Amino acid sequence: MPDPDASSGVVNPSRWASRMVKLARELTDEAPLGATITSGARQPVTIPASRYVDPAFADLELQRLWPRVWQLACSTDHVAKPGDAYEYRCGPYSIVIVRDDGGVLRAFQNVCRHRGSAICEGATSGLTELRCPFHRWSWDLSGRLREVPSRRGFGSLPAEQYGLFSVAVETWGPMVFVDPSSAAGPLAPFLEGVPEDIAWVGLDEYHCDYLVTVPLPGNWKVISDGFSETYHVQGLHRELLPSVDDVNGPQRLWHHHGKLEQRYGLPSPRFREPPGIDAVWSSFVEIMGARIGVSDVSTPAPSVPPDQTLRDVLAGMLRDVGRSEGVSYDRFTNDQLMTMQQYNLFPNVSLVIFPDLMTVLRSRPGTTPDDGYLDVINYRRTSPGTPVARPTDVLLPAGSDPGLGLILNQDAGNIARAQRGLHQPGFTRMTLSREECRILNMHRNLEHWLGITTTEITGV
Ligand SMILES: [Fe+2]
Repeated sequence: MPDPDASSGVVNPSRWASRMVKLARELTDEAPLGATITSGARQPVTIPASRYVDPAFADLELQRLWPRVWQLACSTDHVAKPGDAYEYRCGPYSIVIVRDDGGVLRAFQNVCRHRGSAICEGATSGLTELRCPFHRWSWDLSGRLREVPSRRGFGSLPAEQYGLFSVAVETWGPMVFVDPSSAAGPLAPFLEGVPEDIAWVGLDEYHCDYLVTVPLPGNWKVISDGFSETYHVQGLHRELLPSVDDVNGPQRLWHHHGKLEQRYGLPSPRFREPPGIDAVWSSFVEIMGARIGVSDVSTPAPSVPPDQTLRDVLAGMLRDVGRSEGVSYDRFTNDQLMTMQQYNLFPNVSLVIFPDLMTVLRSRPGTTPDDGYLDVINYRRTSPGTPVARPTDVLLPAGSDPGLGLILNQDAGNIARAQRGLHQPGFTRMTLSREECRILNMHRNLEHWLGITTTEITGV
């Protein structure tokens, strides 16, 4: 069931903010919201499992969350040139993003003003108009009604009254965001301190090469929660342990969003006997060997000079790969090259950023609470002036091998199990550790957007 007073109106923002501060203090002992989390909560936090399986709760999300929150729609490379268009779907909602003749980025609800047919589908380019295939009404790329076949049969159809319904659209770096309600305010305040925090990496130099959509048998929150904590690395991704510090990654919470920094190229402190360099090397190659130009896990480990670590050597190899592609990484430190910056943007996006690449992991709701989509949007840094092709978009058949590499395949393969368990009648609440504070932060924001005035979260 949804929260009992969910229909009673919008939450008092100051009360919500004070709950957030209290939450942060529980998580950090003393630090205010936004501080780095370094110490433990006193008791576990629990979340109602019904939020992941109840059709009424999913309906509430469709009414109150998705229509009125900034959400990542596509890459700027999808709509780089006049006449480029991209259809973004989220649940039943469909928005078309288009670059108009003057180079202005625009977004519209994807609906014909005649009898409501959707106008566009997928990604297209070279458009000079938006034309409904049903009865051939058309609009120019700024959304102004242009042509109606047999127009006299309608009586008066003033163009100014029959434009496409516009949607707020803005960009951050190589990403396009939309606010379907156009009422959420500007994008920049919504993103809070995240763009400033990652400004050093220079996201404007990144370009999207593909977007893969994987239908999965799980709630959109089950999918995104899997990219909001690293507690599961020692369970699901044991192959990672020799080459990642999955324990000491500092986290940070803003009001809407969260962050994790995680170091690669060194073993997890969970090992009683730390693995040797050969094991760290082969794990790193298996997980992200492409970054250093090595794909064969049997490739012998490089020698490590006495004044360096393996991380230094890996960073040097990454610089060599960049040089061969005309990209310089000399302005970054070895630690920056080997450390993942992961941002969880409310509600449904995780940005996995290194100086050479960004992988956007986005979840979207499906037709039931038990269905969703995982979108993997891959970006690479390119040298300035390099011609950029349109991204390749792939929609995989349900149940197919996603072919996303070892780790993401493991994440995708875990979704059905995670969702099935949530239906068991004995399981009414999930229990979170402080390491899972980014999941809790998502639920706090979800409560805010849904207008739930009495929290069902316990332990805070
Ligand atoms: Fe994972």
